[in-house]
Amino acid sequence: MQTNHQWLIAGRPEGLVKESDFKWRESPIPSPGEGEVLVRSVYLSLDPTNRVWMNEAESYLPALAIGDVMRGLVIGVVEESRHPGFERGDLVQGLLGWQQYSASPGGALNKLPKGLPVPMTAFMGLLGHIGLTAYFGLLDICQPKAGETLVVSTAAGAVGSLVGQIGKINGCRVVGLTGSDEKCAWIKELGFDAAINYKSGNVSESLQQHCPGGIDVYFDNVGGDILEAVLNLINLRARISVCGMISQYNADQPAPGPRNLANLISKRARMEGFLCTDYSNRAEEAFTAMIGWLMQGKLKYRVDVVEGLENAPAALKKLFDGSNNGKLVVQVGPEEGAAS
Ligand SMILES: NC(=O)c1ccc[n+]([C@@H]2O[C@H](COP(=O)([O-])OP(=O)(O)OC[C@H]3O[C@@H](n4cnc5c(N)ncnc54)[C@H](OP(=O)(O)O)[C@@H]3O)[C@@H](O)[C@H]2O)c1
Repeated sequence: MQTNHQWLIAGRPEGLVKESDFKWRESPIPSPGEGEVLVRSVYLSLDPTNRVWMNEAESYLPALAIGDVMRGLVIGVVEESRHPGFERGDLVQGLLGWQQYSASPGGALNKLPKGLPVPMTAFMGLLGHIGLTAYFGLLDICQPKAGETLVVSTAAGAVGSLVGQIGKINGCRVVGLTGSDEKCAWIKELGFDAAINYKSGNVSESLQQHCPGGIDVYFDNVGGDILEAVLNLINLRARISVCGMISQYNADQPAPGPRNLANLISKRARMEGFLCTDYSNRAEEAFTAMIGWLMQGKLKYRVDVVEGLENAPAALKKLFDGSNNGKLVVQVGPEEGAAS
């Protein structure tokens, strides 16, 4: 009997996620029922929102129960299909969870295109939810104009690094905040005009220094103190894209809000949250533009691949200590088997 390996939720995390919040289980490989597809996982996406999904409270998706397979976005290869839309060898993507094999309704899967000149992992980043987030979270929510000053937090991460580059392509002056000198050097290589290590200095002073004309657009991935520092420097009719609040995902108590929200009134500024899934029906628009920029050398990205499903719980912590370098994925199994 071939074995499936899975990570289940063993408990609700308190503060930073721990490996003991998960339980490793061996079970038989499932058989697909009528209308289902058996998928072998190749890559598992690790995302800051995974920590939010482990909470008892419902967020934008239903809460998971203790004992459930941990939710996660997967790219995999179809091994067996009982759905007319899929055949063996197809490459698919879906919320298939932290497991090696899954039997999924065909309607819950996206078939990935074949023959594109990008590695498979690009569909977890640039040509996946990360790309949608960066592209529409900046261009649709904030409508940046050439010459404006754009500030981006988690600027060396999967989303933030794309946001800064898309800002440069659109003629903005781009200032990035990130947590190490190495990451600051990398975003300068990408073309950011200035890089601030928020762990090694006074963020408010650094922002003042690098944004002498104020801030027109802020792409917020962190919330908290950095958001408050930015709000003190916003210009008239500034736009703030509320993409994520990673500084608060491990908080056991609700974090205090920024003390200066009233600046939004005097500056007639706008803050707007969004989910990348809001833009699923416009994915082609974003991906066409981004493949073009990639081919022209205007867009670069990094992928941080951790080998082995057994290492997923330990790897998730990298997103919170900042040790991931680019889009964090776990390689669950070999790429072979996907029809090209
Ligand atoms: N709205 C949506 O639909 C959507 C979709 C995808 C992602 N997001 C959000 O986008 C943000 C970035 O996600 P990602 O997938 O691109 O991850 P990422 O930036 O590749 O990795 C997370 C990074 O966050 C930084 N970080 C961790 N704790 C922090 C803290 N307390 N304060 C400041 N920075 C901290 C670390 O970088 P440093 O070394 O720079 O500290 C870490 O490398 C997250 O907030 C995520 O929830 C939103």
